[in-house]
Amino acid sequence: MTEEMSHDILIVGGGAAGLRAAIAAAEVDANIDIAVVSKVFPMRSHTVSAEGGAAAVLREEDSLELHGFDTVRGSDFLADQDVVETFIEKAPEELIQLEHWGCPWSRDPDGRISVRAFGGMSVKRTVYASDKTGFHMLHALFQTSLKYTQIRRYDEWFVSSLLIEDGKCVGVTALDLETGQLHPIVAKAILLCTGGGGQIFPFTTNASIKSGDGMALAYRAGAALKDMEFVQYHPTGLPGTGILITEASRGEGGHLINKEGERFLERYIPGKMEMGPRDILSRAIMTEMNEGRAFEGEYGGYVHLDLRHLGEKIIDEKLPFVRELVVKYVGIDPVHEPIPVRPVVHYMMGGVSTDINGNTSIPGLLAAGEVACITLNGANRLGSNSLTECLVFGALSGRAGAQYAVDQKPVSQNAVRSLADKEQKRIAKHFLEKEGGTERVASLQEEMHLTMEQGCGVYRTGESLQESCTTLKKLRERFADVAIDDRGRIFNTDLRGALELEFMLEVAECIAHSALAREESRGAQSRLDFPERSDEKFLHHLLAYATPEGPRFEQQPVTITRWPPEERKY
Ligand code: FUM
Repeated sequence: MTEEMSHDILIVGGGAAGLRAAIAAAEVDANIDIAVVSKVFPMRSHTVSAEGGAAAVLREEDSLELHGFDTVRGSDFLADQDVVETFIEKAPEELIQLEHWGCPWSRDPDGRISVRAFGGMSVKRTVYASDKTGFHMLHALFQTSLKYTQIRRYDEWFVSSLLIEDGKCVGVTALDLETGQLHPIVAKAILLCTGGGGQIFPFTTNASIKSGDGMALAYRAGAALKDMEFVQYHPTGLPGTGILITEASRGEGGHLINKEGERFLERYIPGKMEMGPRDILSRAIMTEMNEGRAFEGEYGGYVHLDLRHLGEKIIDEKLPFVRELVVKYVGIDPVHEPIPVRPVVHYMMGGVSTDINGNTSIPGLLAAGEVACITLNGANRLGSNSLTECLVFGALSGRAGAQYAVDQKPVSQNAVRSLADKEQKRIAKHFLEKEGGTERVASLQEEMHLTMEQGCGVYRTGESLQESCTTLKKLRERFADVAIDDRGRIFNTDLRGALELEFMLEVAECIAHSALAREESRGAQSRLDFPERSDEKFLHHLLAYATPEGPRFEQQPVTITRWPPEERKY
């Protein structure tokens, strides 16, 4: 164990939520000492790959009421409506603020910030920067964060555990990937902004860094994971790589076509067609595949996303990144040929259970962004709400964490020393100095992928979920016998991969058990054995707590303010 570090607030994750939180914390008080710990350089955070845009009410034909209703209806009435109200009210100021920090929003010829159509939204309200929105937002946030000298960054540091002392979160242990040294970093408040865990599934838009780290860290420390059964499939990912083909392609007028040449959405959601919400569109595509009306390729079924009628000029102006990705990764030009697409895992509606300011049940531990379940998105998130969510709730939780830190006494280094020593010994014993071990990270990961896709995919049944639970339990047992080849210290990606897999297996188990416990279909959870939504039995959140036997569940009521549950119709 080496040099110890100490801060007021420590933010884990350098994406949109983390950087927005860091800036908000810095603005609370110029003396607050802030750390941002990220396993990658912040500009490589997954936010960078967001394409389509960020939602907020900026136009006179729109209204907060409508954005709120769309979000609640999209969530299949599981969103907490006080959270939705805060979100819609704060969204416009956050997006304008970001422009003032340098984000180059696309503009209409009359000079107004442009808005585009997105799934499940009643009007055009998605603000964008071409189709590289995340890249530009992250740049604006990153360069703004550099102004604040009290923000210290730990780039390429991997957080392996949370330090809990007397029931409070007081720091983390983090592996400096460059040197391989494990350090305790103490802080009065720890804010998790680590994103989701799409890598638990085989086909995902998520970067390889998205391995559910923050969820597993909080879960192990005793916090609840909420509504983990709701995993969002984005309808249009590239087969094989899972690369996102933004919903903006459909917002700009692209069509989904099956093998018969039909715009098949006519059968499923004629009122909205390609602008339907993601859960309904993903199910429609899977049904086309299951009923033999999809194309068959190397990676299974797919349908076509046809942009040809938009013409080269619109594609180059509005969707240049889509063109570039498809040319590079599929070898065809969408100006001349339709794009093969299939549903791929994109986002987790569930996450670390927090209140509206990001507080978890563990004092000193907060969460914001995709890692958190606050609950804005309920059973299904609308596209373009999440970038805004990162800003709104990143800012609120950054402020809340900073204010909490100001009121706390300094954390004693001695208090965490034995916890950090324990973590160092754990990593040495299980990975770096382990003798023997027959299991491989890659094969366990592949088996996890298979069981998640087969058992907990777009469609689920009690039987398929039970099978996944059983398989995941065995995989966790087998993980105890895992061996890594690289025993070195410097940039040991083998070790990082093993630690990430351990996180993913825990989160995966939580997803499967949560989906099994919710015996209804709502939003992204589609149970073939319970095809109806049951407000009577399941209009509540599911909180999962870790126990040695698997998750233990509690229920939490849904907050309803303005929009009483009704049949979800489009
Ligand atoms: O399709 C997209 O551009 C994704 C947007 C989102 O998930 O919010």
